[in-house]
Amino acid sequence: MTAPPTEAGLLPLAPRNPLPYRQLLKLVRALDTGQLTIRAAGGPVTRIQVVPKWLFPPFVAVFSPDAIRDVIGRNDALSERCIVHDEVRDMAGDSLFVLPNELWRPRKRALQPVFTKHNVRSFGGHMSRAAEEFVEDRRAGGEVDLDVECRRITMQSLGRSVLGVDLNDSAEAIAEHMHVASAYTADRALRPIRAPRWLPTPARRRAQFAVRSMLKITADMLQACRDDPTRDAPLVRALMAATDPETGRGLSDEDICNDLLIFMLAGHDTTATALTHALWLLGRHPEAQDRVVAEATAVGDRQLEPDDVPRLGYTTQILHEALRLCPPAAGVGRMTLHDIDVAGYRIEAGTLVAVGIYALHRDPAIWPDPERFDPDRFSPENVKARDRWHFLPFLGGGRPCIGEHFARLETTLALATIVRALRIESHAADFPVDVPFTTVARGPIPARVTPRG
Ligand code: HEM
Repeated sequence: MTAPPTEAGLLPLAPRNPLPYRQLLKLVRALDTGQLTIRAAGGPVTRIQVVPKWLFPPFVAVFSPDAIRDVIGRNDALSERCIVHDEVRDMAGDSLFVLPNELWRPRKRALQPVFTKHNVRSFGGHMSRAAEEFVEDRRAGGEVDLDVECRRITMQSLGRSVLGVDLNDSAEAIAEHMHVASAYTADRALRPIRAPRWLPTPARRRAQFAVRSMLKITADMLQACRDDPTRDAPLVRALMAATDPETGRGLSDEDICNDLLIFMLAGHDTTATALTHALWLLGRHPEAQDRVVAEATAVGDRQLEPDDVPRLGYTTQILHEALRLCPPAAGVGRMTLHDIDVAGYRIEAGTLVAVGIYALHRDPAIWPDPERFDPDRFSPENVKARDRWHFLPFLGGGRPCIGEHFARLETTLALATIVRALRIESHAADFPVDVPFTTVARGPIPARVTPRG
């Protein structure tokens, strides 16, 4: 699969994308749909040279399963964090998301136990309850904004499950801060010409204020755990117990707060988008909604639990199809450390490689009629027959999403809980999104909810 660097040296460079420079500049910044036009013009592995190398690193976009596997499925010593992660690190300090591979390993080892498939089951009660509270509030039925409601549900789930706090009242303020900070970093990372970091531009000052506001929230979380040793906050406790393998010293308060911030960011927007999109889809497809209701009702008239998930197979299919059509991480970036072989092309050391998850999920060679909503693409037989590199909402390879089991459990329990109690009718025929960093609904996403008899 992966040629050693010397062998890669004999391969041709990926073909240069033929689109005009100005168009490419725009497309690269449309983090989701831009991928489709770039691939249509340049193929599944395409080199994008919009400015001289001394201004911006060489840039290659990869869209096919084998090329993606060659980038992220390899020994991670050959591909590293990229300019996007560097910008996040500059703005919000060290964290699991941004640490270079070498420093990342011990942090990952310390935090992984909180997020295993087995351990996240203990959070199931919080997850179902957050969705039930929404259902209770809407017993009278009426008009809702699915975007706002799902944000609240996922923020509550995350807060109560791993952070030891109820984030209910601050959900909207946190979401706003997160968008300001993440939009600034992604935008900056993809600019061929950037203002120096020391220059206090208005956008940078706004992003810094947003980060400071979130760090204050995380500092309060940490203090609350110190003040009350019985407080149930597994992620905060894991960070407090983590040690540096070389020095044996614990993490600084600053590092703990930075990690908590990144978990709020990575663990909230993403699941909120997945749940909102799945509910919106069900609100447009009553027949699929009826099937979810039937299986969730068959479980019984009680709170749904992690043990019920195997009986919620069609609900899971809906979530997979929602994640295919609207992957919350539309793409990810890596930096190559050596020349590497990617689907028969040489990608030079120091290249920014953009992995196009959005385009992969809409590849007509893998997904016939890719725009059509069809949960049967994820029937047990179809899943069994599918290559694992065809569907990558949580990425994969050496550095996948640590929150995958958490997100899967949370969205499955929430979707089944809500739809079992309330009929959803989505008013809008489209699901508009913004992609400041991760993909978020461009709310409002209006729907009518009606209690089921
Ligand atoms: C539907 C929901 C989610 C999706 C689609 C998703 C997707 C992803 C993807 C694609 C990455 C790789 C990013 C990169 O390498 O640049 C990632 C990383 C990460 N995710 Fe998620 N995620 C979701 C939910 C969560 C949740 C619930 C949490 C935590 C509670 C979380 C925490 C993280 C963290 C900390 C990383 C960095 C991991 C590392 O580098 O080791 N995510 N996620």
